Amino acid sequence: MVTCNKRVIAFVAITILCIKGLLIDHSHSVGSNVPPLDASPPSSSIVLDPADVIARRRNMTLFPPPLDHPFAGARDANGRWGYVADPTSLREHVLGRYRRRIGDAHATYEDMIGARYMIFDDGVGDENGGINETDQVCRTPPGHGIEGEGGWDVLANRIVVGERGVPLPKSPNDPREPPNGWEWGEMARYPARDDPQYYNGPEPPRIFCGMYTYHKRHYLLKAASESWAFHCDGFLAFSDVTDPTMGAVDLPHHGTEFYGNMWQKVRSIWCYIYTNYYNDFDYFHLAGDDTLMIVENLRNYLWSIDDDNGTKPLYLGGLYMTQNIRACWGGPGYTLNRVTLKWLVTEAFSKPDIRVDSGEDRIMGFTLRPYVRCYDTRDANGGKRYLGNSPSSYGRSCDDGHCDPNNHRDQTRLDYAWRNLTGVNLISSQVVSFHLLRNQVMLKRVHAILYKTCPNGTVLADALELV
Ligand SMILES: *[C@@H]1O[C@H](CO)[C@@H](O)[C@H](O)[C@H]1NC(C)=O
Ligand SMILES: *[C@@H]1O[C@H](CO)[C@@H](O)[C@H](O)[C@H]1NC(C)=O
Ligand SMILES: *[C@@H]1O[C@H](CO)[C@@H](O)[C@H](O)[C@H]1NC(C)=O
Ligand SMILES: *[C@@H]1O[C@H](CO)[C@@H](O)[C@H](O)[C@H]1NC(C)=O
Ligand SMILES: *[C@@H]1O[C@H](CO)[C@@H](O)[C@H](O)[C@H]1NC(C)=O
Repeated sequence: MVTCNKRVIAFVAITILCIKGLLIDHSHSVGSNVPPLDASPPSSSIVLDPADVIARRRNMTLFPPPLDHPFAGARDANGRWGYVADPTSLREHVLGRYRRRIGDAHATYEDMIGARYMIFDDGVGDENGGINETDQVCRTPPGHGIEGEGGWDVLANRIVVGERGVPLPKSPNDPREPPNGWEWGEMARYPARDDPQYYNGPEPPRIFCGMYTYHKRHYLLKAASESWAFHCDGFLAFSDVTDPTMGAVDLPHHGTEFYGNMWQKVRSIWCYIYTNYYNDFDYFHLAGDDTLMIVENLRNYLWSIDDDNGTKPLYLGGLYMTQNIRACWGGPGYTLNRVTLKWLVTEAFSKPDIRVDSGEDRIMGFTLRPYVRCYDTRDANGGKRYLGNSPSSYGRSCDDGHCDPNNHRDQTRLDYAWRNLTGVNLISSQVVSFHLLRNQVMLKRVHAILYKTCPNGTVLADALELV
């Protein structure tokens, strides 16, 4: 029997054997070649071991991971390996809070979304730095918050949340799909002939949202978990601390935990997602902790495109060209379907790779290149769905061609090159994500404007009544 022993001389070959063994079985175990681990999900009331015990157990030399990275898996709140997080735990947790708030133990997820529920932390605890969020998010007049005048226009007047039937990726009967099917992986400038066609599937796809973060930025995770994140069918935040109430998972990776090592973290994230959740979702989105998703728009978009019954590889996001290849820009995140996820992990990530690099989006474009390239996700009018900046960067302020200085220069140039669009026309009414939301008030305010979640009688609620 093959064992995963680092000291075996043919270590790489053995590792790949072990990994293949693991990947054939999509169950929640860590494979038959290693001793079984305690993989039961945590109970709702987590009892933590003393901090020094956890710290000692986390010491790799004392308690090595069961497999080499990127297949080592995650650790529970007590630092024990073999943890398989429940991606619905965040939604359950928020639903529990909603039920207690309205005093109805049988309220459903749909009731909660219909009631426009989000959580405002008014700073009674100290997790959010004593900020009264209701005050800062809901009592700041329109256009005077982080969104600015242009951003208000975009959020309140341009973007439509969750309505189907509005601009699709390409029009029906689009002749750009070649008769012999799509081209695989080759270089092409957009618009490419093989961008996915319009197609109305019978069922909405199930979406998993992943976030990368670490403990010092859990204020962003907390804001996301109280606003947009529970709209995803599954959500997990890949961190260095496990906390099921926010969907946080302690997922170690090769090398140290710092931004410059993001590629290694992302490798471990995709391997973990593939190993544990491949069968449970149709699409998998990954982005950083300063990204805000409009999940209903992402779901409608993915629902409206043809993936040939799940056989066509898809890699979707904010398209950009890097060294002549098409990659999806990292800021707003990118979305993979199941066949692409499978190829990525079993074919690409089963080979050793210890590069230390922060440019995970660029390397992802190169890694997927033999299989699939980033597709153009603009709508039929040319408006962008995956946005690399915050709302204040778009809208009226862009009309004269001079956007907010925090704009990514090359991206802005590309935006303008496309059909000469300016102002709000640059972006789709079906935006799926914004990036560069730097604190919890920014995140919550954008969500509150889009979803009209502020309490009646506040300045923001009154202003949105009139829109
Ligand atoms: C981790 O292990 C190394 C080597 O055994 C030891 O020097 C170090 O003190 C340990 N750290 C902790 C936090 O236990
Ligand atoms: C937070 O602000 C809201 C709105 O201004 C106010 O009603 C509420 O009492 C404040 N909460 C705390 C804890 O101060
Ligand atoms: C897609 O898959 C479903 C379910 O397996 C099947 O009923 C349907 O015929 C398939 N459609 C095509 C076009 O292959
Ligand atoms: C963009 O504007 C220029 C200058 O007015 C014009 O020549 C060009 O045809 C326009 N491009 C498109 C795609 O409309
Ligand atoms: C808030 O206002 C809306 C529209 O005026 C109304 O339908 C709703 O019942 C109000 N909600 C509360 C909690 O008062």
